[in-house]
Amino acid sequence: PLEDSDTPKESSVTDRYAYAFDIDGVLIRGGRPIPEAIEAMKVLNGQNQYGIKIPYIFLTNGGGKTEQERCIQLSKQLDIEVSPGQFICGHTPMKEMASKYNTVLVIGGEGDKCRQVAEGYGFKDVVTPGDIIKYNPDTTPFRTMTEDDLKHSRERDFKDVKIEAIFVFADSRDWAGDQQIILDLLMSKGGVVGTRSETLDEGPPVFFSHNDVIWSASHEHTRLGMGALRVSLEAMYKAVTGKDLETVAFGKPQIGTFQFATRLLQHWRKYTHGIDAPPETIYFVGDTPESDIRGTNEFNKVTEQNWYSILVETGVYQHGTTPRFEPKATVPNVLDAVMHGIERER
Ligand code: G3P
Ligand code: MG
Repeated sequence: PLEDSDTPKESSVTDRYAYAFDIDGVLIRGGRPIPEAIEAMKVLNGQNQYGIKIPYIFLTNGGGKTEQERCIQLSKQLDIEVSPGQFICGHTPMKEMASKYNTVLVIGGEGDKCRQVAEGYGFKDVVTPGDIIKYNPDTTPFRTMTEDDLKHSRERDFKDVKIEAIFVFADSRDWAGDQQIILDLLMSKGGVVGTRSETLDEGPPVFFSHNDVIWSASHEHTRLGMGALRVSLEAMYKAVTGKDLETVAFGKPQIGTFQFATRLLQHWRKYTHGIDAPPETIYFVGDTPESDIRGTNEFNKVTEQNWYSILVETGVYQHGTTPRFEPKATVPNVLDAVMHGIERER
């Protein structure tokens, strides 16, 4: 890395390689940038001894806001301009499901932010747990709706409403209430609120935007994530019904998410940097072996491109332990990860 004044005047964009970054535990922790992250972004943007700019995208399992809002936030945190054209969050690939289902239940996030995200994706009729509690407060015996909950929920008669699918967009703010409502729908007659199926096999499918059991937030130790809710829901369903519940998770480490990222990067390099051919190497920097490293390594086996996994020690993975999925390189932080790729390309 160089000082501002040392930056070569003419910096050219490399077409040989690119970067993709995980966010939590790599660039951000608990809403604050990891110290080396700001420097790492400067290096990518041309402040390096070779004067090259390196294209990059962001690939997080997080969510709960529109991509636009997340990019504004990330731009402030990292002191760069981040565009939705270089950003994928856990629920981004769910937009491809919008035409498949009519009425859907969306779980998670603050207020009704996730309803807005889903509507923005083109989902036609989006219900939240608050709407169902407003319709029948007996649904969740220990949850009293706050002023804010009431403001964000809609008045609706659910008598003949068929909920066709359940999407967990972001982390639940009320595990007990949300799990009760999901369980009710799974046991319902074809997704109709308040009904019970005799066969228990006609409930709607459940989709999670990712499967991270733990993640790296502001606390010194990892915190429970959406994957923990998934495990809990499946175990609870088994305990109540005696049957197995199969749910689907998007996000990393799913191959589909990496395919989505490849298309986004292709588009980003073409329309922002004028590069039309695929990169030789894509360096993916992550902190969670189970999603970041696993996904990169498995995708690398099925793609013609070369995805290269780099594990950092600022988040879920802890120095000195053995990761369950082995990265191509392990480095202390994101700045080292960027320098590792640059040196490797010389
Ligand atoms: O809830 C977000 C978390 O599970 C992971 O985010 O950026 O590390 O993929 P990220
Ligand atoms: Mg992470």
